[in-house]
This record gives sequence, structure tokens and C-alpha cells, in this order.
Amino acid sequence: MPDSASAHASAPEHFRKIAGTVVVTGGASGIGEATCRRLAAAGAGVVVIDRDREGAERVAGEIDGAAIGLDVADPVATGAAFAAVDELSGGHLRGLVNNAGVGNLKPLEAYSPAEVDLIWRVNFVGTYNCLRSAAALLRATPDAAVVNIASASGVRPTRGEAPYSAAKAAVVALTSSAALEWAPEVRVNCISPGFIRTPLNEMLASDESMRSGMVERTPAARLGTSEETAELVATLLDPAHGYLTGQNIVLDGGSLLPSSQMDPVLGPLLGG
Ligand code: NAI
Repeated sequence: MPDSASAHASAPEHFRKIAGTVVVTGGASGIGEATCRRLAAAGAGVVVIDRDREGAERVAGEIDGAAIGLDVADPVATGAAFAAVDELSGGHLRGLVNNAGVGNLKPLEAYSPAEVDLIWRVNFVGTYNCLRSAAALLRATPDAAVVNIASASGVRPTRGEAPYSAAKAAVVALTSSAALEWAPEVRVNCISPGFIRTPLNEMLASDESMRSGMVERTPAARLGTSEETAELVATLLDPAHGYLTGQNIVLDGGSLLPSSQMDPVLGPLLGG
């Protein structure tokens, strides 16, 4: 595993500062996979964590990183995984990206207790487990930073995602607490993506009428990509932004901006 930017001749100049070990959870697919690739290109030694061990090994093999199979909802296994990260990194963790997540889509009252429990344990408790297990390693490392991946659904509810919205809102709150308690050593920020096309939502994105319906209602007039989300993760890990902590950045092409109450009324008055 590379431990310096020089190991990656293709690393863009402005991100050469991300040398050292970075852990990405949920790194075997979608946003997490793109993040692993982006951070490796920036010179980081990436530890790919995923409950899909084979997927984690595939991504790690392609970026000269390390792979750990882990269910982040399991606190004991998460502690053991970060003991391995301690060994891999020589006791220094430059970055942690809490990206592993699961969702579901059904009416609030139709969720079973087991489904609610799973969504809560993976999205919120999993993030908590990783923060707790990584705390000492992060604090021992200059310029350490954390990026949690929440969701626009945690900022404004999405129909059918009640437990997921609540769990992601809790991740935003946890971000503020960690940023407060770990300053000034460790910066902690959050990204709340809107619709980013990944295997998680391919069923919706690949349907032409559903996709065009979403695009029409997005001011940026398109869906988001894993690569641009990974780009924002890399930016937030960059010590050039050392004054930025405790923030939640909504990356949604402006989709939360329109007002369903006022826009249809004011649009015609303004010639829109
Ligand atoms: P994805 O389904 O493509 O990737 C998620 C990865 O997390 C998978 O590799 C999966 O195996 C892993 N994972 C799931 N549960 C895990 C567990 N308990 N322990 C370890 N790994 C686990 O999903 P995508 O779209 O890349 O999502 C990444 C994050 O972004 C998630 O937290 C998701 O909630 C969030 N998000 C995604 C949006 C989108 O439109 N794709 C929108 C808003 C938030």
C-alpha cells in the first residue's frame, strides 16, 4: 500500500497533500468505490471496508490498497477492523469516510421492526462504531479529517424513506458533535447527496420516464455522479480547508431549492 504521494505519478498536484492512510466504508460500490479511486489517485493509501469482502478486495486490488470485510453495524467486529487499520497504518489515520449505507422504500407504517433496525444500525450506528473505533488513530495524526455521507433525505424527507431519513438526520447531528468534541485535532464534515446514480438506485435511474421526471425537477437539469461526490470528499479531506468543520454540504444539483407552494404561483407572474 502506498504511503506517499510519489507512489502515484498520476495524482493531481492540488491533492498531493492526501498522503497517509484513509479508510472508506462501503468502498466496494457506487460512491464509496469512486471515493477509493479518487483518494488513491491523490496519493492516499486506501483501506477499503465493505461487508462485501470480495468487492472490497476487487477495488483494493485495482488501487494498490488494502481490503477488510466488515459489517459496520457490528461494534465488536468494527473494533477489530480498526485494530488491523492501526497495524496497517502504523498508528496514524489521515482520513475516515463513513459511506456504508442501506435504504428501502415503503410507506412509514409498512416497515417491519427488523427493517427499521437494520436501516438505523447500518446508517447511524455503523457511522458511530467507526468514529469511536478510529478516534485515537485520527487524533494521533496531523491534518486528520472525517467525511460522513448522510443524505438530502435527512435534510428534507423523501416519501417512503422514513427510517432512512431519520437515520441520516442523526448522522448530520453526529457530525456536529464529533466536530465539536474533536476540534482542533480532527475536522469532521458531512455530505448529504441528492440523487446520485449508483447500483443503489439503478432501478429508478434506468427507467426513462422516472429519470426524466427527476431531471426536470432538478435545477442542475441532470442526476449526480459518484465521481463528483468523490471529488467533494477529497476536497473536504484537504487540509487547505482547515477552517471548515462541523458542516453538512447538500450535493443535490439544487433539487431541495424549489418551493412546491410558491414556484407554480410565482412562475407565471414572472414569465417563467
Ligand atoms: P451502493 O449500494 O452502491 O454502495 C453501498 C456500499 O455499502 C455497498 O458496497 C454495500 O455492500 C456497503 N454496505 C452496506 N451495508 C454495509 C454494512 N453494514 N457494512 C459495510 N458495508 C456495507 O450505494 P451508494 O449509492 O454508493 O451509497 C453510498 C452512500 O451514499 C450510502 O450511505 C447512501 O445512503 C448514501 N446516499 C446515496 C445516494 C444516492 O443517490 N446514491 C443519495 C443519498 C445518500
